[in-house]
Amino acid sequence: MQWKALFLAAAASPLQVSAQYAQAAMMRFQCSRLVVERVDPLVSPGLIQSPHIHQVVGGDSFNATMVPVEYDLPSQSTCTTCSFSEDFSNYWTANLYFRARNGTYKRVKQMVNLGLQGEEGMTVYYIPPYDGHTKVTAFKPGFRMLVGEAMLRTAQGQQKQLCHRCYTNVNQTPFGGAPCADPQMDTAALPNKQCAGGIRATITFPTCWDGKNLDSPDHKSHVAYPSSGSFEMSSACPASHPVRLPQVMYEVMWDTREFNDPSIWPEDGSQPFVYSMNDSTGYGWHGDYMFGWKGDALQRALDARCSNDRCSQLKTQTPAQATACKKQQTIKEDVDGWLTELPTTTM
Ligand SMILES: *[C@@H]1O[C@H](CO)[C@@H](O)[C@H](O)[C@H]1NC(C)=O
Ligand SMILES: *[C@@H]1O[C@H](CO)[C@@H](O)[C@H](O)[C@H]1NC(C)=O
Ligand SMILES: *[C@@H]1O[C@H](CO)[C@@H](O)[C@H](O)[C@H]1NC(C)=O
Repeated sequence: MQWKALFLAAAASPLQVSAQYAQAAMMRFQCSRLVVERVDPLVSPGLIQSPHIHQVVGGDSFNATMVPVEYDLPSQSTCTTCSFSEDFSNYWTANLYFRARNGTYKRVKQMVNLGLQGEEGMTVYYIPPYDGHTKVTAFKPGFRMLVGEAMLRTAQGQQKQLCHRCYTNVNQTPFGGAPCADPQMDTAALPNKQCAGGIRATITFPTCWDGKNLDSPDHKSHVAYPSSGSFEMSSACPASHPVRLPQVMYEVMWDTREFNDPSIWPEDGSQPFVYSMNDSTGYGWHGDYMFGWKGDALQRALDARCSNDRCSQLKTQTPAQATACKKQQTIKEDVDGWLTELPTTTM
């Protein structure tokens, strides 16, 4: 199925952006669940356990300690959960939990996105500017970055590239549009109602790099969003961050359907979902990226303007091969049963 056509059919944001988005080539592929655990090599390096639990996808060399450059993801990994088998990057986000009326918690699993196959995890995108020719530079070994603020509990200060969409059915209605662009459908907060088709949570990473630093103390200031306009429309990068990167985007499809029973929702009408940082607002939603493509595979794919999950420049593996890749939890703990409290180390 051609995703471009669907984007066109249902595009909802400003017409020009939508039309170009519709025709844009973009890599869009499944990365299945690798492990769910309390480890965060970016924000809490070396710490076992990290303050809250994450769902992690990608290469199986994911570890609490991953020193930039020195720790070479492609050579340390033996497999990856992503459909492009040369992608040993790690992608991770907070986990979502359902808090039942009786006060116990259950992890919300993820659906696999339309048109893709696998087990839980997320859809990863690498998006070049829509014009079809503006060059983007792939990340360098050791590169990593973070979007979002785990402790944020108000709309103020939230990056606009984080949002939630409430689907009324599993065919993902309402569909389409540029990421997080429609204020009617895309909310920074978690939806305040039942979503019959689940909740899509999006994270869009910055696209301008300072050209020097693989990381920064806040894991953010070495990268930037275009100062005005939009990446998609090839808007310029700020002078401080002149190198144009591909736009990395995560879509996590929270499968909230099994919890849509009003008798176990809070009596006061509030919504019962809570992120693993004990955040029921949704404003603390965040995602981490650690580059780990083998050699120049990503650059070749970007230069060839590869689209969807097949690419003349890349090796792919079957969904069965991808989902066979798993990592043991560093510290074993139950992540699927009903829990009396969230698996958090500190609040
Ligand atoms: C993974 O991290 C642990 C400590 O958290 C360390 O002992 C081990 O050597 C690391 N593994 C690799 C392959 O670096
Ligand atoms: C709490 O509620 C959930 C959802 O109805 C139920 O599955 C679970 O068994 C309950 N747990 C306790 C301890 O009552
Ligand atoms: C989690 O957050 C709620 C407020 O949303 C608060 O009442 C509760 O005490 C917090 N739990 C912990 C363990 O900090």
